[in-house]
Amino acid sequence: MRSKVMLSTLVVLVFTLAMATAAFSEGGKFSEIVDAKSTLCYPLELTFKRPSGVLTTSFVPVKFSHGQHANIACTTCHHMWDGKGPVEGCATAGCHDNLKERQEATSYFRAFHDKNSETSCLGCHMKTNIVRKEKGQKPLSVAPCSNNGCHVAQK
Ligand code: HEC
Ligand code: HEC
Repeated sequence: MRSKVMLSTLVVLVFTLAMATAAFSEGGKFSEIVDAKSTLCYPLELTFKRPSGVLTTSFVPVKFSHGQHANIACTTCHHMWDGKGPVEGCATAGCHDNLKERQEATSYFRAFHDKNSETSCLGCHMKTNIVRKEKGQKPLSVAPCSNNGCHVAQK
């Protein structure tokens, strides 16, 4: 009887250990030819969660795909990133943390809508569309704003 209890305890223990190891290696799966010193994980697609306190808007939250922007250097958008530490969001304290005054350079709004900045969504898309027009290509649906390419209307 006692040995049976011992045995089942052992089985549970081994199983737990195996699961833990599997979960651990799942997070950092690289081929054998790399010896990773540090890793960074980022969302391939995301939906913006507006920080609480931001001015309310009737527009639905915008989606963003890192995959769609893979030709652009990380530091174009994450312009304060040192390339080593963690990547922080736009509304980080001391960055675009002014949630109320839209026209301020440090505003959350301007981070995405500054027409004169090539690192804002709108500024870069507008510039991209000028270039596309010159080349006779179809414009991106996201600029200008009139067609709601970003803030897609809820059905
Ligand atoms: C075209 C612009 C753009 C490019 C290029 C870009 N990102 Fe992002 N990234 C964003 C935006 C916008 C967010 C969402 C930030 C927010 O909501 O405050 C984000 C979020 C992130 C986050 C999550 C941050 C958090 O708050 O936890 C990480 C990590 C990240 N990006 C890493 C990268 C890496 C690595 C690259 C390059 C391989 C990259 N990004 C390229 C725009 C970009
Ligand atoms: C530095 C330039 C740049 C910035 C900044 C940028 N984008 Fe883009 N974006 C592009 C380019 C270039 C494309 C076209 C990619 C392609 O299809 O080859 C694109 C495409 C898109 C598309 C697909 C639109 C379509 O018509 O196919 C969406 C949606 C989008 N971007 C959202 C965003 C959002 C949201 C942000 C800000 C958080 C952002 N982008 C910031 C350059 C930029």
